[in-house]
Amino acid sequence: QDPRIEGIASSIRVVPNFPKPGIMFQDITTLLLDPKAFKNTVDLFVERYTGKDITVVAGIEARGFIFGPPIALAIGAKFIPLRKPRKLPGEVISEEYVLEYGTDCLQMHIGAVQPGDRALVVDDLIATGGTLCAAIKLLERAGAEVVECACVIELPELKKRLTPNY
Ligand code: PRP
Ligand code: MG
Repeated sequence: QDPRIEGIASSIRVVPNFPKPGIMFQDITTLLLDPKAFKNTVDLFVERYTGKDITVVAGIEARGFIFGPPIALAIGAKFIPLRKPRKLPGEVISEEYVLEYGTDCLQMHIGAVQPGDRALVVDDLIATGGTLCAAIKLLERAGAEVVECACVIELPELKKRLTPNY
């Protein structure tokens, strides 16, 4: 394992019982307070995705907006925000996904990606994978190829993987 990962992991604060009893909240705001850990996080992704012909980085609201843009700038890709409903002013396509209680939805501007774009999806955390699946569907509906999804944190106890059957 890359020696930088330990410092990144230890910079993330775990807050028990937030926002609800039983949830161990992974708080990346403490990672952002540690410039070395923040830089190492971005660098690890940049090293992985440089030279992979990625043309678009799609960040998922809200915390994908923190990690996505520095990666996009470093690899020379455009950045697009995948937003919660009714935030984008232009014409959008939408993808609903299931949460523990109820549903949520991601929206993307029509025209933000073109057929042939090669996309990287960025978020802070994968739990069930439902959010990333909605992001992948949006990008694929718009004709992009999703090369990979990049998250800072995985909750492996949920044992959900995107491949092969997202
Ligand atoms: C959290 C997290 C991921 C998502 C992961 O976001 O930031 O985006 O849940 O869960 P999943 O893999 O089970 O879909 P949340 O929906 O709480 O919203 P936020 O990022 O806007 O705070
Ligand atoms: Mg989120």
